[in-house]
Amino acid sequence: MSEATDLSRRRLLQYLGLTAVATAVVPEWLFAADEQGSQERSGQSEPDIEVGITAQPAESPILPGRPTKVWKFSGELVKGPPGTVKDIPDSYLGPILRLRQGQKVRIRFRNKLPEPCVIHQHGLHVPEEADGHPRHQIGSGQTAVYEFTVLDRAGTYWFHPHTHHRTAEQAYYGLAGLILVTDTEEQSLDLPHDEHDIPLVIQDRSFDDHNQLRYIGHMHDRFRGFLGDRVLVNGKPDFVLPVATRVYRLRILNGSNSRIYKLAWSDGSPLTVIGTDGGLLESPEVRNYLMLAPGERVDLWVDFRGRKLGDEITLRSAAFSGVMPMMGMGGGMMGGGGAGMMGRGMRGGMMGRMGAALPHGAEYPILTARIVREERDQLVLPRRLSQIQRYRPQDAANAQKPKSIHLSMRAMSPRLNGRSFELTRVAEEEIIPLNTMQLLEFVNRDHRAHEMMMAHPMHIHGQQFQVLKREMAPGFERHYSSVSQGFVDNGWKDTVLVMPGEKVTILKRFDHYTGLYLYHCHNLEHEDLDMMRNFLVQA
Ligand code: C2O
Ligand code: CU
Ligand code: CU
Repeated sequence: MSEATDLSRRRLLQYLGLTAVATAVVPEWLFAADEQGSQERSGQSEPDIEVGITAQPAESPILPGRPTKVWKFSGELVKGPPGTVKDIPDSYLGPILRLRQGQKVRIRFRNKLPEPCVIHQHGLHVPEEADGHPRHQIGSGQTAVYEFTVLDRAGTYWFHPHTHHRTAEQAYYGLAGLILVTDTEEQSLDLPHDEHDIPLVIQDRSFDDHNQLRYIGHMHDRFRGFLGDRVLVNGKPDFVLPVATRVYRLRILNGSNSRIYKLAWSDGSPLTVIGTDGGLLESPEVRNYLMLAPGERVDLWVDFRGRKLGDEITLRSAAFSGVMPMMGMGGGMMGGGGAGMMGRGMRGGMMGRMGAALPHGAEYPILTARIVREERDQLVLPRRLSQIQRYRPQDAANAQKPKSIHLSMRAMSPRLNGRSFELTRVAEEEIIPLNTMQLLEFVNRDHRAHEMMMAHPMHIHGQQFQVLKREMAPGFERHYSSVSQGFVDNGWKDTVLVMPGEKVTILKRFDHYTGLYLYHCHNLEHEDLDMMRNFLVQA
């Protein structure tokens, strides 16, 4: 081992808060990537978990009749406890990977698609070589190895392609899977587990008359983002969840390309949130509805006790407005309309082509829970779920000078601070010193083109962040009031919805790894339209 590596190893240990005693546990592994730099390396440090993941064309039974051609991640456990890789039966979705904090993981990726691909571990903080940057995409027929230690806390994470200009379409055709991480903090709690801990991936899709997926061609649709006309849950339409009269943990991922959901129960029952993107909240929060933008996750405690056999309760998306651009509408009303604008001249226009059966912001069902069994359980909702160390703005390296990221949509080109994605380039203000906390703000206030403003779910790779505050410009309140009670900002986040007129300030640390880490809009069509940039984390 070279002296330089030794130095960076010691520094890394400091960041991890580990003492020299821990040397044997983590560092060999963490530095395996740095030392060789090659994608294929041979066992100088054995992983705890080794998984093979293949991306390939497949067929999936989605609608009655003919199966649908999809692209699918299939998984295979090479090393690790049984149950680490679990398929969702009959679904185009990839396997569920169950990991534990501290584990060393090796993923061998085989690309059997007819085009390049790369896997990104969304929400996990991993070395840049394992983060799925488009510059690391591999060609058809090639393989790659991603190695990382699970640093993140218990939570619901996911993996999906991050291929240059092809992320949206590859995800749309089925390439996505879940990563469920557990840790000792979570395991000290008495939460529903095993078959009572249910991941639910919500995605919208469109089909042609032959049951085949239909994506978008028209530039306008791309600009706004894909909107399907059917909602699928775990790859199935009209999803029914059979449940017993007991408590469940439902982990919901919005895996849609651009559709935002306003989750609410049909009978008006409130939703009890126990976790968000980066795992458990400190304590449960109760809401009448929850906004869930593409990329975001929410973890619910759902109590079906006291319900009767045969009862049904529907999780729906409730009506809201203000997320879509107003273009072509003439001035006046700021912030864009959702369901409301359907009656205002949009029918023959952009919204007419696709998604018309399911306008963004309309009300529609997502899934139905049906009580099929009586059961007794004594679970008590823990008042305290986890410990979250609160970041303080004064601890940010740039406390006096937040880094502003202005979102804009001019000339059919969604941008960040006026810039488009450049594979490896970074601007001066995108260089971030390693081991610092940064104050960042997403500003969705392009007043010079306000009719183009729309909601953008902004995502940052690397460590999870904390939302410090949301500030709304005057003039947007009417639409904003239909969504504003649905944000759960108190826990760890990697994706945050920024509404038109809004400025969202966050605190994020950049520890452990140097290199290029992406930040982008998780409206996947926007991502592919280059609404993405690099941060360069530098020692
Ligand atoms: Cu889930 Cu860079 O994305
Ligand atoms: Cu990500
Ligand atoms: Cu966007």
